[in-house]
Amino acid sequence: MKFGHFDDQNKEYVITSPRTPLPWINYLGCENFFSLVSNTCGGYSFYKDAKLLRLTRYRYNNVPYDSNGHYYYIKDGDTIWNPGWMPSKTELDSYECRHGMGYSVFTGVKNGLMAQLTDFVPMGSTCEINKLTLKNTSDKKKDFSVFSYVEFCLWNAMDDMTNFQRNFSTGEVEIHVGGSQLFHKTEYRERRNHYAVYAVNASVDGFDTDRDSFLGAYGENSAPSVVVNDQSKNSVASGWAPVGSHHLKVALEPGEEKTYIFVLGYVENPVNEKWVGRAEDGIINRAPADALLARFDTTEKADAALAELKAYWDKLLGHFSISSSEEKLDRMVNVWHQYQCMVTFNMSRSASYFESGIGRGMGFRDSCQDLLGFVHLIPDRARERILDIAATQFEDGSAYHQYQPLTKKGNADIGSGFNDDPLWLIAAAAAYIKETGDYSILDESTPYDSDPSKATDFMEHLRRSFNYTINHLGPHGLPQIGRADWNDCLNLNCFSEEPGESFQTFGPSEGPNAESVFIAGMFVKYGKDYVKICRHKGLCDEADTAQKAIEQMEKTVMDAGWDGEWYLRAYDHYKHKIGSKECEDGKIFIEPQGFCVIAEIGKDEGLCLKAMQSVEKYLDTKYGIVLLQPPYHRYHVELGEISSYPPGYKENAGIFCHNNPWISIAETVIGRGNRAWQVYTRTCPAYIEDISEIHRTEPYVYSQMIAGKDAPNFGEAKNSWLTGTAAWTFLDVSQYILGIRPDYDGLIIDPCIPDTMDGFTAKRKFRGNTYHITVRNPAHVQKGVTKLIVDGATIDGNMIPAINGTGHDVTVEVTMG
Ligand code: BGC
Ligand code: NOJ
Repeated sequence: MKFGHFDDQNKEYVITSPRTPLPWINYLGCENFFSLVSNTCGGYSFYKDAKLLRLTRYRYNNVPYDSNGHYYYIKDGDTIWNPGWMPSKTELDSYECRHGMGYSVFTGVKNGLMAQLTDFVPMGSTCEINKLTLKNTSDKKKDFSVFSYVEFCLWNAMDDMTNFQRNFSTGEVEIHVGGSQLFHKTEYRERRNHYAVYAVNASVDGFDTDRDSFLGAYGENSAPSVVVNDQSKNSVASGWAPVGSHHLKVALEPGEEKTYIFVLGYVENPVNEKWVGRAEDGIINRAPADALLARFDTTEKADAALAELKAYWDKLLGHFSISSSEEKLDRMVNVWHQYQCMVTFNMSRSASYFESGIGRGMGFRDSCQDLLGFVHLIPDRARERILDIAATQFEDGSAYHQYQPLTKKGNADIGSGFNDDPLWLIAAAAAYIKETGDYSILDESTPYDSDPSKATDFMEHLRRSFNYTINHLGPHGLPQIGRADWNDCLNLNCFSEEPGESFQTFGPSEGPNAESVFIAGMFVKYGKDYVKICRHKGLCDEADTAQKAIEQMEKTVMDAGWDGEWYLRAYDHYKHKIGSKECEDGKIFIEPQGFCVIAEIGKDEGLCLKAMQSVEKYLDTKYGIVLLQPPYHRYHVELGEISSYPPGYKENAGIFCHNNPWISIAETVIGRGNRAWQVYTRTCPAYIEDISEIHRTEPYVYSQMIAGKDAPNFGEAKNSWLTGTAAWTFLDVSQYILGIRPDYDGLIIDPCIPDTMDGFTAKRKFRGNTYHITVRNPAHVQKGVTKLIVDGATIDGNMIPAINGTGHDVTVEVTMG
C-alpha cells in the first residue's frame, strides 16, 4: 500500500495522506542551520549542533507521536485546523505534503480556504523560512485568524529535558512589535552570545511568548486556549517555557490570496558585545537579527531564496545522473540516493527521528563511510571533513569513536577501542584522492587528539592507521577486534577471568585474544589503497613492506578465517570460533562475506564464489539479507550486546541494510550482475514503495534496519535516514553495478548489470570535466567491456585516463560483451 508517490520532475516525494505509518520526515538546511520536518509539520531546528544549540523543543517518544513542531493554526469560525493536519488533527478537505530537496511544502484545504506552507532554510543563512500563503477558494468573503507557534528549547537539549530546577528560571524574551517596523520579534536568549528570533513580515494583532498562557493551564497544542478564544494574550514569558506565537487577523475576498513570511533565526551578538545582563538592559544586539530578517522580508525575496536553493540542488545532482529503462533506478540514482548521502554528511548519526541529537555526535567510522557517498558532490568539504576526523585520531593510530560537531573534539565519554576505525580513514582518503586526484591532502599538517602541538602530515595519520592493525594482531594473526569492529554489538571482550565473578554486561573493553575476520578483510581491501598511495609518494620500501603484510593477512584469513563454506566472523576471548558451523547459533555472519570478497581473499581458490553462494543459501530473505543465522536465541554475555536483541532485530539477525550493498558489490567482484541487482533492489526504497504499510518508514530513503525473518514483524523498518546504507548503496549502484568508478589515474568503466538490461547512459563530472557515457549491452552479458571509445578513439582496457585541464565534454561509448 502506498501513501504517496514520487514526482521525478520536481525531485519530490508527494505524501497524500497525513496518516503515514510513521512520521515521514525531511531535512532542511545544507550548511549550519538545520531543521527536521515531518509530513505533518512536526520537528525542530538547531544551529550546527543538535545537542548544544537547539532552537526549538521536540519531545521524542511522545504520545501522540511527533506532536511538536513549527505550527500554524487557522481559526475559521468554529473550526481550528492546520495546513499539515497536526497538531489539531482536524480532518482536511485535502492534504498534500511534498518533501523536496531541502524544502517541504504542505497544502491543506478546509472549508473553502487553502493554506500552503513552504518550509526551507535559505543558502548562506541561519534561519528557517515558513512561507504561508492563504487563498479564499470559496465564493464568500472570509475573515479568520492565523496563529503561529513554536516552542523554544533552552539551547542545550539534554539540559532542557532534564535540568528543570535550573531551566524553568532561565527563559527570557524581548518583544518588538511595530506597525511601522513591520516585524514582531520574539526573542529568547540565554545570557550568552546568541539568541533566537521569530518574526513575520506583517504587523500583528497580538502575540504570545509564554506557553501556559498560549495553551491554557493544562492545555494542549491540539487546541490552544488562545486559538480557541481567537485572541492572543500578549504574554511575556519569564522563566518556564518560552514560546513564539503571532496572531494575524486575515480577511480575504473570494479568490484573493495573501502571503506571509515567517522567519525563525539563530543570531549571534558580535563577539565584542557584553554578554552578561538582563534583557531589559537592552543587551541583545538586534542589528544582526534585523539584517537577517531584512534578507527575507518580502515574498519576492523568499521566493528568490527558494529558487537559489533549488538551483543549488540541481547543480549538485548534475554531477552524476543516468538514464535507463528502469524508472525506479533512475530516480534513486539521480535524486534520492545522493540526497540521503548529503543528509548523512550533514548529520552523521546525530539527529533524526530515531537519533535524539543528544546521544551521538559525528561517528569516526560513520563519517568516513558517509564520505564515500558525497565526495563527488562536494570534494572541498569532503577534504575538510577528512582532516577534521583525522585530527581526533590518537598518536598510536587509534581514534575517538565519535566527536562533537561544534567543538570538533573527540568524545571522551565514549573513547576509543573500536579497532576498525583507523582503517576507515584510509578508505575515506583513498576515495577522496581517486575522485579529485588531489594528493596534496597528504601533506596537510594534522593534529592528534585535537592538540595542535601534536601534529604530523596527514600521510603519517594514514601510516599509523595502517600500522594500528599490524600492531594489534591476535593469537591467529588476525586483527584484534577491540571493543567492537563495524558490528558495535559484537563485544568479544566482555569476559571475566575469575570464576564466580560476574561478567561485565555492557561497556565492552579491549583484550588481546578476540579477533575479527571482518577487520582482516578491511585491512586487505584498504591496505591495497595504502600501498598505491605509498607508491605514488615514492615510498617504495614502505609499499613493499605493506604489500607483504597484506599478503600475509590474506594467507591468515585463508588458514584461520575460512570455515569451509564461508568466512568465519571472529574468535572470542576464549579463542572460540564465532560465525562457524560449529556454533550453536550465529553460524554465519554477513560482514566478513562482504568484505573478504570485496578484498578478493581466496578468489582464485574459489572462496569468494562459495561465500556468496552461502549468503544466498543461508542469509537471503525476500526483504533483504539478514546479518546472521541462526539468530542468537539466548543471551551470551561473552558476545556482548549482540544477543541482547530478540531474534530478527538489529545486529541479531535483522536485515542490517548497511551491509547488503557490501554483498551486492561483492557479487559484482565475481561478475554476477543478476544477483548484484537482486540484492540492490530488494532493499531499495523506490522498489519497495508498494509495501509501505509493512516497511513503515519513508519510501524515499533507506532505514538502518528491517526486521529479519526471525522477528514477528518481518519486513518492518526502523531508524530511517542516518545510516551508512546511504553511502554504500550509492557506491554499489553507481560504481559497481553501473560501474562508473573513479580511480587514481582515471575513470574506470566496468558495469556489472543484469543481463536483461540493454544498457544506459550517464553523465558524470570527474575532475572538472563532464563525461557523457553510453553503455550498450548487445550480447546481454552481466559483466565485461569489449570496447571503449573515448571522443572517437578506441582505448585499451576499461579506464579512461584522467585528462589535463577542465571544462571539457567527453563522449564515451562502451560496449559490453
Ligand atoms: C546499536 C547499534 C549502534 C550502536 C551505537 C547499538 O545499541 O545496536 O546499531 O551502532 O548502538 O552506539
Ligand atoms: C550503527 C552505527 O552507527 C555503525 O557505526 C555501526 O557500524 C552499525 N550500527 C553496526 O553496528
